[in-house]
Amino acid sequence: MTVNLRGNWNYPTTIWAGPGRIRELPEACARAAIRWPLLVTDEGLIAAPMIKSALAALPGAALFGAVRGNPAASHVEAGLRAFRSGGHDGVVAFGGGSALDVGKVVAFMSGQTRPLWDFEDIGDWWTRADIAGIAPVVAVPTTAGTGSEVGRAGVILNEETHQKKIIFHPQMMPRIVILDAELTVGLPRAVTAATGIDAFVHCFEAFCAPGFHPLADGVALEGMRLIHRYLPRACANGQDIEARAQMLAAASMGATAFQKGLGGVHALAHPVGSWFNTHHGLTNAVILPYVMAHNRAAISDKVDVISRVLDLPARGFQGMLAWVLEMRRELGIPHSLGAIGVSADKAEIIGREAAIDPSAGGNPRPVDAATLERIFRAAVAGNLDAVVSAA
Ligand SMILES: [Fe+2]
Repeated sequence: MTVNLRGNWNYPTTIWAGPGRIRELPEACARAAIRWPLLVTDEGLIAAPMIKSALAALPGAALFGAVRGNPAASHVEAGLRAFRSGGHDGVVAFGGGSALDVGKVVAFMSGQTRPLWDFEDIGDWWTRADIAGIAPVVAVPTTAGTGSEVGRAGVILNEETHQKKIIFHPQMMPRIVILDAELTVGLPRAVTAATGIDAFVHCFEAFCAPGFHPLADGVALEGMRLIHRYLPRACANGQDIEARAQMLAAASMGATAFQKGLGGVHALAHPVGSWFNTHHGLTNAVILPYVMAHNRAAISDKVDVISRVLDLPARGFQGMLAWVLEMRRELGIPHSLGAIGVSADKAEIIGREAAIDPSAGGNPRPVDAATLERIFRAAVAGNLDAVVSAA
């Protein structure tokens, strides 16, 4: 068998990690040459003390807080209007994955003349962008999950087609990231759990994706080890700064690693989120074991490595699956998509859209629309055995 030894690797984000480092936000903006930042945040954070302090520390800043979960093109357009009318020269993207994605895409689009969908992550479409028209970003995550702070893309919902599109450009990567665990201590347990498992799925799918990327594999393995160790602690005691700091690092690691690829969990979670407006991390957390079971034959060697790195009581696929199911139960994640309001009546569309989602290409076993529809139906019903027996 010929071994693939080719790959393109990008690991250049500048990260300032440490509790309390949000105090260095003005310096981060200065380093990124931002004098008049638009601070983009989630709707739910507008009145939060951390946002008020950030605005107070940045005299030239204005606030844009009209960002919701599963952000859509309309959020980006509203942000762009605020950016342009305020004469801003950069973005501070401050919040969960939605705020980070919208902030990055607003900064990217600020000086473009083409429409947003011209920059979907297809082939070399990113080369259509005017690089001089891309404003700098400083990113400050307040959840430990998406890892969008180290990514070169934003996931934006096209409200007309109900499809999530990946808007990509290498220069969309934030200039400086501040990982301050103190900003995440107030996250409720359920959000901590769901976003934390999203980070785990990033590491897991990246590690299991085919392709030659030993850097990503190493980062993904350590990310999984940190999440295995610290997510239960962060959920048990939200004030545990060490656990929060390790989870923030692990989330950045997950998104760094998934440059290598994702897989069936994300391929399904994207259309499910588009159609049912479910929380991205929670959706992944529910779907994970169903896709694992389907991929079993293709990932047994890799899962063996993971189970050893995590030092699970039982090794191999069975040990790994047992741990995933137990962790989900302990963290209060439901076993079925039905339990989070997802029904099977869109199963055909979900299967079809999952098959063309860019993440599907990273799945260790090739997946088509019919297979993904079957996995989706099993996840809606909470019937893991249906996938196990079909695999
Ligand atoms: Fe994700």
